[in-house]
Parts: sequence; structure tokens; C-alpha cells
Amino acid sequence: MDEAKLEAFLATFIADMGGTGTIAMVAVGNELGLYEAMDGQGAMTAAQLAEASGCNERLVGEWLDQQASAGYLVFDAETSAYELPPEQAFALAQRQSPGFVAGGVLTYASMFMDLDRVADAFRGDGAVAWGDHHPSLFRGVAEFFRPGYQSMLTTAWIPSIEGVTEKLEAGGRVADVGCGHGISSVVMAQAYGASEIYGFDFHPPSIDVAREGAEIAGVSDRVHFRVAAADEFTGEFDLVCFFDCLHDMGDPVGIVEHTRSQLAEGGIVMLVEPFAHGDRVTNHQRPLARASYAASTFICTPNSLSQPVGRAMGAQAGEPGMRAVFEEAGYRHFRRASETPFNIVYEARA
Ligand SMILES: C[S@@+](CC[C@H](N)C(=O)[O-])C[C@H]1O[C@@H](n2cnc3c(N)ncnc32)[C@H](O)[C@@H]1O
Repeated sequence: MDEAKLEAFLATFIADMGGTGTIAMVAVGNELGLYEAMDGQGAMTAAQLAEASGCNERLVGEWLDQQASAGYLVFDAETSAYELPPEQAFALAQRQSPGFVAGGVLTYASMFMDLDRVADAFRGDGAVAWGDHHPSLFRGVAEFFRPGYQSMLTTAWIPSIEGVTEKLEAGGRVADVGCGHGISSVVMAQAYGASEIYGFDFHPPSIDVAREGAEIAGVSDRVHFRVAAADEFTGEFDLVCFFDCLHDMGDPVGIVEHTRSQLAEGGIVMLVEPFAHGDRVTNHQRPLARASYAASTFICTPNSLSQPVGRAMGAQAGEPGMRAVFEEAGYRHFRRASETPFNIVYEARA
């Protein structure tokens, strides 16, 4: 054994353990509004933050020290005060910022709560259905993707597909399949006032939350949420979208075949999938890859295995995996339309 390599590995492990703890601290800080209470306030002592947030001072003090150790807060030893720098505030405190990441950490919290269930799946057929996860997952996933949809969907992703913005501005029919909490549906309804949006998901509790969201946003007259499996939704749509969900499904080929039968003349499929490189070696080096493979192991792949066919693409199938699905389903056109560090957007035409 090479001792230097062992030390290097243990340093990696300790960093990962610290990172895991930090994610739990972000979850509690976000839940309690601690970051929001610090945003723009300058340096605060534990007593001041406890007062501002209505939380227990001793626990707030421990949280502040953990966050300072993680480099999320700046500590001033002279005044015993902690400051949330503006960059961290952008990412952790400002819920409407495009870089808000604090809400999505619940996705990772849910993995610990589902540990026994997923371990059982490893010992058996690999299946864990979406609805059998801890509810933190549903909120976490919606929050993880929300900033991207709010900042990119109608300003960059839809415009990267020729003719779609014009169609939706004039008034079109859109299906958002596997819509979860329906944030993408609401974003489209807000941007395209003449269009009708239909959100479909087979998970009834998510559809309930989606309906509430559309009410709050004042678009419930043009966003229609229905409980429906992805191979059962019906309508005649100018645009059918799959946001970060096709790889989760058991039979993506059967689903996009069904989708073709629900497209209006000239209709388009827009597929948004987690970013991944086409080969494993390059992919393994991406900073986000270990988070993506973890979610894929606990959530995406077991969900696919719980459904008929169980293609189990995983969240890191990348362009080759997705292209194969549309080619097998007989689509004549498939292309990568745009991308961000988190997502790849594809366009498919029947
Ligand atoms: C990772 S979540 C994405 C949710 C949403 N599109 C978003 O971006 O926030 C995957 C969604 O696919 C839904 N789903 C999985 N398999 C499905 C199926 N066969 N039919 C319909 N919905 C399905 C789940 O209920 C879940 O809401």
C-alpha cells in the first residue's frame, strides 16, 4: 500500500463527509430562513440571527460555526460576528435568483431517508417507484430544477428550436409530460398568454401541488394538470416537452412512439435532460457527475426498473442514449438544440 495515496484518499473522504454534513446544514438553513435573515444585514452574531429568525440561539451558534468552516460565511473573530457574502446570498438566500441552489438539496436529503428501501432494491429487482420515496424528494427535485426553468426555458431553450416561440406566442397547445410540481408548465403559461398548457404526471400528490402552484401564479385558467402516465396522455399538441424525466421512465421508446400519435401537424418534441458527456471517462471527470450518478442510483434508475420494459437509462445516458431512443421510435430528426452546465436540450421531429 502506498501511504501517500492512502492519505490523499482519506483527505477526499473527509472532504466528502464534510460536504454531506454541509448539505444537511443548507437544508435546515433554507427551511428556517436563516440565509434570508442574513441577506444584506452585514455581520451578525448568533444572538442577532436567533432574534431575527426566531430560532434557538445555541443551535444557531453551532450552525454559524459549521457554515463558517465550510466557507459559506465569513467570521470576524474581533466581533464574533458572521457575514453572508453577496455571492453566497445569491445562491442560498435569494429564492428568485437564477443561481438559487439551496432548495434542491432536499433531493439529497431524501436519499438518506430512503436508504433501507433502496438497499432492498439492490438485493432484489432494483425497483423503487417514484411515489414510494420520501416526500422530500418531490419538493427537492422541483426546487432543484426551478431556477433553470425560470431563467432559461422561455428565454433560451424554447428559442433554440426554430419556430416554437412564434407558434406559442400566436397560441399553441403544449404538453408537459412528467411535469411533477408543474413549475415548467407555469413558466410557459406566464410567457405565452395565448397558449394552453397541459401538465401530465402519474403521481397524484405532485399534480395536487402543481394545481396549487398554477392558482397562486394566476394562470390556472390556461394550465390544466391531469394525472396520466406518459404513455396514456391524450391531445393534439404543437409542442410536447419532457423536462428531466424521460430517462426516469421504464419504456422511453414506447412513450415517444405514443407521443408521436399526439402531435399536431408539424408538432415538435422538446427533451430536456441532465447534462452528461457521451463517454464514461470524460463524464467521470465532470464535477457534477458524482451528484448525478448518486441521484441516478437512488432515484432515476430504480424508478425506471419499477415500470414495464425497465430500460433503466440512468440520468447520465447523454446524447447517444437519448438519440437511440428517438431513432428506435422512428423519428426522422433529432438534434441537440442548446445546453447549460446542468442540462442538454434536444429537439425531435416525427
Ligand atoms: C425527476 S422528476 C421531474 C419532474 C418535473 N418534470 C421537473 O422537472 O421538476 C420525474 C417526474 O416524472 C414522473 N414520472 C415518472 N415516470 C412516469 C410515467 N411513466 N408517467 C408519467 N410520469 C412519470 C414522476 O412522477 C416525476 O414527477
